[in-house]
Amino acid sequence: MSSVYFPPKKAFQVFGRSQEELASLGVSDSQLPAFARSHDNRQLKSWSLNEMPQLGGLIGFMKKPERPIAAAVFVTKGGVLKSTLTFNLARMAALHGIRTCVVGLDMQGDVTTALNVDDAADEEASLDEALAKISSLRGLADVFTGEAKLEDVLRPTEIPTLFYIPETPELVALDQSLVNRNRREFWLQDHVIEPLKKSFDLILMDCSPNWNRLITNALVACDVLVSPLECKINNFRNFKTFQSLLAEFKTDMRTSFTQVYVPTRLQPTRKLSREIQEWYRAQLAECVAGSVRESTQGEESVAVRLSIPEHAPTSVAADEMRELLREIWSLMPLESRLRASGETARRAQELSI
Ligand SMILES: Nc1ncnc2c1ncn2[C@@H]1O[C@H](COP(=O)(O)OP(=O)(O)O)[C@@H](O)[C@H]1O
Ligand SMILES: [Mg+2]
Repeated sequence: MSSVYFPPKKAFQVFGRSQEELASLGVSDSQLPAFARSHDNRQLKSWSLNEMPQLGGLIGFMKKPERPIAAAVFVTKGGVLKSTLTFNLARMAALHGIRTCVVGLDMQGDVTTALNVDDAADEEASLDEALAKISSLRGLADVFTGEAKLEDVLRPTEIPTLFYIPETPELVALDQSLVNRNRREFWLQDHVIEPLKKSFDLILMDCSPNWNRLITNALVACDVLVSPLECKINNFRNFKTFQSLLAEFKTDMRTSFTQVYVPTRLQPTRKLSREIQEWYRAQLAECVAGSVRESTQGEESVAVRLSIPEHAPTSVAADEMRELLREIWSLMPLESRLRASGETARRAQELSI
């Protein structure tokens, strides 16, 4: 269980608010959640992560969507903060009382590492215990083979509104197995995302930078595609290729989704970095105004497995992350798009992406 506690001032700061704003938000003291209790059942003057989603629902800046939303975080480049953005979006949405599930689709497993709080405890385990635990870990590949049900691979986190499906090494095999399947581009949508939409408001797919079959599945299943773009010169060429591949994909599959580009690793003191951000904003209608800057708080927060607003709530990096999440959230479709038609399904079978 987490030992993170939030005294009221800090709890409000996580959402970029102060207690003085309560009345203007139309919230009374009596609506606030009860404080957490210690092990000996004493009331603490703090909220734990258990109470935070209730607080976030009252004072936060992300509203619960009317319909469930599936978002893929993908671009064909590594190290551009895909997993970091997924993680921040997931934790902050969950802290707003939005029931969130992260689906890890990258064999690197970074988002699983960030979400798995048991990992630290594992350091003390014996090799036998650790091996037993690791081999009992079930993931999407087990759902595919029928060895596990979807509910068996969902793992809780220390935030009651946040769950995830961990990446396992067998994802490689799953990717291969999808080749020989009918409706192979639709497996994730039919067997994972649509069923998850019955229990969650937000499903976030953290993608690998390699465009494999799992990623094609994620693109078919998503309502929104979030693509981080590094504010670095060597990202340019990669971005152009990505853009044209994506346009081709959308035409071939006759699919559509809302697109959001997010400039990342901005170095505000570097002229070139700023100019690249400006270029993205000017040239791409889908590019947000906000960005994620290169920062030590950003790096640290991943290491301590917290979102930036939780880890360093009063930092510039946290302000920018909240603003960015607010902006991304405002672009999310409240009504999820109509699911793929029979025509799209037929086309998909003809293709072998
Ligand atoms: N704001 C930041 N500034 C600098 N480094 C960061 C920031 N946020 C995260 N990082 C670091 O960048 C690394 C790569 O980010 P990650 O989200 O894993 O990229 P991707 O998923 O696109 O491969 C992370 O391991 C993390 O340590
Ligand atoms: Mg990643």
